[in-house]
Amino acid sequence: MNTAALDTFRAELERLRVEAEAALGTASDANAVEAARVEFLGARSGRLKSLQKMLGAIPAGDKPAAGRHFNEAKEAVGVLLAAAQARVERVAAHVVPIDVTLPGEPVPRGHLHPITQTIRRVQEIMARLGFESVDGPEIEDPWHNFEALAIPPEHPARDPLDNFYLAVARGTDPLLLRSQTSTVQIRVMETRRPPLRIVSLGRVYRPDTADATHYPMFHQVEGLLVERGTTMAHLKSVLRLFASSFLGGDVHVRFRPSFFPFTEPSVEVDMEWGGRWVEMGGAGMVDPAVLSAVGYDPAEVSGFAFGLGVERIAARRYGVSDIRDFYRNDVRFLRQF
Ligand code: PHE
Repeated sequence: MNTAALDTFRAELERLRVEAEAALGTASDANAVEAARVEFLGARSGRLKSLQKMLGAIPAGDKPAAGRHFNEAKEAVGVLLAAAQARVERVAAHVVPIDVTLPGEPVPRGHLHPITQTIRRVQEIMARLGFESVDGPEIEDPWHNFEALAIPPEHPARDPLDNFYLAVARGTDPLLLRSQTSTVQIRVMETRRPPLRIVSLGRVYRPDTADATHYPMFHQVEGLLVERGTTMAHLKSVLRLFASSFLGGDVHVRFRPSFFPFTEPSVEVDMEWGGRWVEMGGAGMVDPAVLSAVGYDPAEVSGFAFGLGVERIAARRYGVSDIRDFYRNDVRFLRQF
């Protein structure tokens, strides 16, 4: 038979347990858990301790039951405390303290693509020789890509199988992706008067099957000089100065007789590479017919032009044996430059 005193005691124990559960359950760090421990289980003035003192006032017959209830409550709060301590320790273990005095994580720095680096370097060297860098469009009309360069409509170089013609409305001129940067020679001569020294670097397109030395899109460096009294000796000197400056050392340049419709005479330009001669492009004296076509007087001025493959000179400089590597975008390759 329960006395009123025992019922009150039990109710107090239950209230304490519920409040301890709430306090320990929401304690977010070790300090909060410790504060709850002192409040509920503190040896001197904890709330359990206070309740223990009430035991004395319980009638003798109810004392054993009261003692049992007290011990159960004390044990329950002890279990809640242990759980709360374990929880905040786990959380603390996952918080990595920040040492602001440590050096930061290095951020990997990228760099320009080797072809872009090559283009900038060529522009720099040619600028020192007095050649201004100019741009031209990649989508061209047949006049600039062919006609003005003395490549007439029946010429095999205009074959649709050798060019990327663009579909256009019937009755309008077919446009094409330029197959050479020589187009820029015409565009510049059409708008300026000699003397003239320009370089133009950019993309050209030909439906070639990709291999170690070919790619359907590649870059050319076009050079054009038109002045009074220009000779092939000037052409060779400029190419040799350029090659030696770009590749380092004294690079030998070789001319082989060749043919281009817009130069006369025309040559293939070879450069020495590891004891071998490697073809880098074409060159020649601007054909008088081309000078006349743009309104220059061939009796007064003469000029030379050259067109080199940027991938080829880059491959020569960096020791790359397959130009397709420039376009695979494998960072292990690109990182080397
Ligand atoms: N445009 C020629 C080619 O792509 C190269 C060239 C440029 C030849 C200038 C002569 C003069 O093959």
